[in-house]
Amino acid sequence: MIDGPAGAGKGTLVRYLVKLLGERTGAAWRPLDTGSAYRAVGVAAHLLGTPMTDVVDLTYLAAAVQFDPETGVAYAVGETAVGHLIRSPEASEWSSKVAVIPQVRLAVNKRFHAFAAETNIVGDGRDLGSVVFPDALLKVYLTASPRARAERRTAETEGATDIAQIEAAIAERDYRDAHRADAPMTMQADYVLVDTTGRAVQEYGDEVATMAIERMKY
Ligand code: DC
Repeated sequence: MIDGPAGAGKGTLVRYLVKLLGERTGAAWRPLDTGSAYRAVGVAAHLLGTPMTDVVDLTYLAAAVQFDPETGVAYAVGETAVGHLIRSPEASEWSSKVAVIPQVRLAVNKRFHAFAAETNIVGDGRDLGSVVFPDALLKVYLTASPRARAERRTAETEGATDIAQIEAAIAERDYRDAHRADAPMTMQADYVLVDTTGRAVQEYGDEVATMAIERMKY
């Protein structure tokens, strides 16, 4: 499991590991982008006119999140398609707001468990090692300097050009993610810390895959 703040490079590492673990273990591995589920709930709420504070309706939406089995990205909430909007800056804001609600977290965690029951997964999020999959084979906490993270997110976010603005938005979201009462983003003693600032995924991805494979032996 890969946890850590926005823009640390979690998605890139997940894709790298899925491919490498597939080759090295001969088994099928799938990515699971847990942030996309919170984004999907926020987008669906927006499209359906559900207030971002309506715990009951948001929890219903969270229980209906659908993932693409290949990419592990949430693409719909029930019948409502959300995939076209989940990478927008607004979705980033909405997701971190719905993510503070414990009932929403419980409901999406069930969706994550259902996905993981079908296949081997390499998941990324904020609380996967600490809360959702406490028995995970390997827990990595990925981080990078605030500027490096803002640069990555600017490249990933549709229509974004202002790095300073993205850096400020990330800092605000980090604060909310790390200080919420339920399942805050945190690195515990059983995590391996990897700093990706100025490093390409090839420089640390092989080492992470080797650690995971070593642990499969025990
Ligand atoms: O990784 P991301 O930027 O797509 O995540 C969107 C939001 O979802 C982020 O602000 C925090 C929240 N999140 C969470 O609380 N727990 C997770 N396991 C994954 C994401």
